[in-house]
Amino acid sequence: MRISVIGCGYLGAVHAAAMAHLGHEVVGIDVDAERIAALAAGRPPFFEPEFGDMLASSLASGRLRFSTDMADAEGYEVHFVAVGTPQSADGQAADMRFVDAAFGSLAGHLRPGDVVVGKSTVPVGTASRLAELLRERAPEATLAWNPEFLREGFAVKDTIAPDRLVYGVPDGDAGERAVGRLDEVYASAVGSGTPRIVTDYATAELVKVSANAFLATKISFINAMAEIAEATGADVTKLADAIGHDARIGRRFLNAGVGFGGGCLPKDIRAFSARAHELGLGDSVKFLDEVDKINLRRRARVVQLVEEEAGGLEGTKVAVLGLAFKPHSDDIRDSPALTVAQQLAASGAVVTATDPAAIPNASRRAPELTYAETPEAAVADADVVVLITEWPDYVGIDPAALGELVRRRVVIDGRNVLDPARWRAAGWTYRGLGRR
Ligand code: UDX
Repeated sequence: MRISVIGCGYLGAVHAAAMAHLGHEVVGIDVDAERIAALAAGRPPFFEPEFGDMLASSLASGRLRFSTDMADAEGYEVHFVAVGTPQSADGQAADMRFVDAAFGSLAGHLRPGDVVVGKSTVPVGTASRLAELLRERAPEATLAWNPEFLREGFAVKDTIAPDRLVYGVPDGDAGERAVGRLDEVYASAVGSGTPRIVTDYATAELVKVSANAFLATKISFINAMAEIAEATGADVTKLADAIGHDARIGRRFLNAGVGFGGGCLPKDIRAFSARAHELGLGDSVKFLDEVDKINLRRRARVVQLVEEEAGGLEGTKVAVLGLAFKPHSDDIRDSPALTVAQQLAASGAVVTATDPAAIPNASRRAPELTYAETPEAAVADADVVVLITEWPDYVGIDPAALGELVRRRVVIDGRNVLDPARWRAAGWTYRGLGRR
């Protein structure tokens, strides 16, 4: 298939390279000339395992190219729109300017029979609105909505071998044609029996936001239990293991800690709530406001633990291990680690932070913090060590050796990933979240 991918951010860049890897002929288009130049030169603009190799091999195959000119989408048959829908600067809703601009500009370059496929996470109702726009400006093109569920750190695997495919299509022949085209695009996944759900636009849009709302709720549920555990002397990690054995509940996404961040879960639950309010259905998603609040309280709790252990924050030397919102990523969007580091610094602590991948992004966003390249350098003379992003290198750190470098052996385990017995045996005061 001849495929264009409009928007070469995290989602679009991986999608474009993956589609070429699967044998399609692909052009990736983005208005950001610097990003396009980097991608065309085979330089990944973000940290993502396996992406660099796939980008290089797809470019070398001659099936992948990049452009800043929307006119280059002309002549391609399937056009994926994968631009961002960030949280609006002035509220909770999604900022739809990039989606609207992409559709507006793409419409002039469509040919009869083309299929436009929305991949961006959008408020329910967007696809019908955009289908209307296409009916006016490109009546012989069809719109489908095909949400993406990729996780950062597993983006390549999730794109090439997704756990399910969802196609939101219109009724009738146009819808059937769109399904046929999408089946050709995803021939390898469809051929290997990947579950595929064909539905209407609204359901496809809602599948994405409700999946993220569910995941966020699961995390905040266990973090609410952590709050209760802290007050009662219980251990939330044992509690999660025990309830997780119930197959109806499941253990995944029940890791209590400093909570969720990143470019998706926080903004998606806020946008979902904003959209439901617009529809007069605020009560149906009221719980999401609590999910958000519980999540943000966990960040404050880490700051409180540091304060408790150090007997105050002013002048306290704190080493923060991890800055990315999760390991195997350099993404600091809504990162709990960066928020905690900034809150500590704003309260007078002297913070040195480290991360294997996210220092360049973090230092641009938070130039007020001090950064160190290694955990050993970050903890030098620290009064408190705070682990927030569970990079394997930090989880495996030797507490005895680290203890030689700090001023006081106090560790706050923001992800409950360290072995308390081992750290205590090495002379550390260990504090987890939701644990004695
Ligand atoms: C998420 C969804 O998983 C993905 O399907 C969707 O397409 C985009 O949003 P991602 O943002 O990459 O993906 O991260 P994910 O692995 O879901 O983790 C989100 C956050 O939750 C991270 O900050 C992580 O540390 C946190 N988390 C996850 C927990 O706090 N506890 C858990 O048990 C699991």
